[in-house]
Amino acid sequence: ASTHDAAARGAQVLVASNRGPVSYTVGEDGSLRSKRGGGGLVSGLSAIGPEAGALWVCSALSDGDREAVRRGVGEEGVRMLPIPADVHADAYNGIANSVLWFIHHLLYQTPLEPAFDAEFRRQWASYETYNRAFAEALAEEAGQGAAVLVQDYHLCLVPGMLRALRPDLRIGHFSHTPWAPVDYFGLLPTDIRERLLRGMLGADRLGFLTRRWADAFTACCAEYVGGTGGTRIGVHGLGADADFLRERSHRPDVQERMAVLRGEIGGAGSGSERRRTIVRVDRTELSKNIVRGLLAYRQLLDDHPEWRERVVHIAFAYPSRQDLAVYRDYTAEVARLSAEINERYGTPGWTPVLLNLEDDFARSLAAYRLADVALVNPIRDGMNLVAKEVPVVSDEGCALVLSREAGAYWELGEDALVVNPYDILETARALHEALTMKPEERAERVKRLAAAATALPPAQWFLDQLTALRDLQPS
Ligand code: G6P
Repeated sequence: ASTHDAAARGAQVLVASNRGPVSYTVGEDGSLRSKRGGGGLVSGLSAIGPEAGALWVCSALSDGDREAVRRGVGEEGVRMLPIPADVHADAYNGIANSVLWFIHHLLYQTPLEPAFDAEFRRQWASYETYNRAFAEALAEEAGQGAAVLVQDYHLCLVPGMLRALRPDLRIGHFSHTPWAPVDYFGLLPTDIRERLLRGMLGADRLGFLTRRWADAFTACCAEYVGGTGGTRIGVHGLGADADFLRERSHRPDVQERMAVLRGEIGGAGSGSERRRTIVRVDRTELSKNIVRGLLAYRQLLDDHPEWRERVVHIAFAYPSRQDLAVYRDYTAEVARLSAEINERYGTPGWTPVLLNLEDDFARSLAAYRLADVALVNPIRDGMNLVAKEVPVVSDEGCALVLSREAGAYWELGEDALVVNPYDILETARALHEALTMKPEERAERVKRLAAAATALPPAQWFLDQLTALRDLQPS
């Protein structure tokens, strides 16, 4: 309700992002089916809902989405832009996900990549076209003095373009990713890095998930464009939505899946003790470090044979960005390594790794509830909402093994078992420590983790940004 009041008090509010809250598929019978979008950005923004009175401008991502636009089907408060499929592919797969995502998550294997060639320049032109389509749609939809909140690395150029079209608007931009260190951002061609930074600096205010990413951005501006000018910079650490999660995770579909999962986890092994679970939930995403997580689990089974038959690793690795070969290869490697571990250690009554490659939100909530240990070990991550969600939902007072490179580390680090995501042996040791932690200590820690994780719920996170943007005095 408070978001609604804010929206009503000020002028109109618009949100812009590549991925919107829903996506459509065309069924066999020609009917359109809608599905909730995934990832941290959509989870955060969905809590705001249409009742906030905001208009959400997003891309039509699939053939189903484009068909929905053609038929005039859509949700209230959402406008999908039917960007031509080839332009979108260049901007999204080419520039956003293969260049900018790689830069901010330090994913390049630098002896070979990146190589900024003619193909890159062609894709860059599409990225500009795609950003311009957003800027024009926003300029068309926004009333006098409206507040526009642009999201993420897909839309870095929108603030500058929109400012030129509509100087009356209040423009904010929020980054849901880390920001690259100066030298790594410097891998980009000189003109491109300048255009990206200047595009973002077209906003009145820029938001980041942690001080670390905000400082990295400021350092890049100082190095490459002589500073941040009049643009303000704020930090808003998106938290988990406790009310939604607690209610959703106690619905019958989750209870049913818990029963199924318990069956898959299986019997008590040699003793009467129940089997422990190490749970991870991610998109199959290079930055999430799923392969090193599996290697650490294998190391645990080697170093501590006493855990064999007494623990199961439940890994959710939902398909993501499958148009990109590196993502397909990575998914294949996750599946291969899981099968190898099961082959090598498994026994008739025990499957060491339960790998889930299908997106089933209710099943992942069931796993959250059953988790003894949550493994969150990204190479680098803007925040990582899984680290914040599991402590809220877990029935077992789960222990958290957390990468120091996740934004969430800055808020949860004290009560998590912190690891260097590249260090397999350290991660294996942390898993062992988590599994052997005294129940009372786990219970104490999980209480503090849940409190820290929910300190800034999505609706408040959004409202804070809106208020800060509206309250800006001219610089
Ligand atoms: C991250 C990004 C989001 C993105 C999400 C899912 O959280 O910050 O902007 O929506 O990943 O990725 P996808 O490419 O499927 O939208």
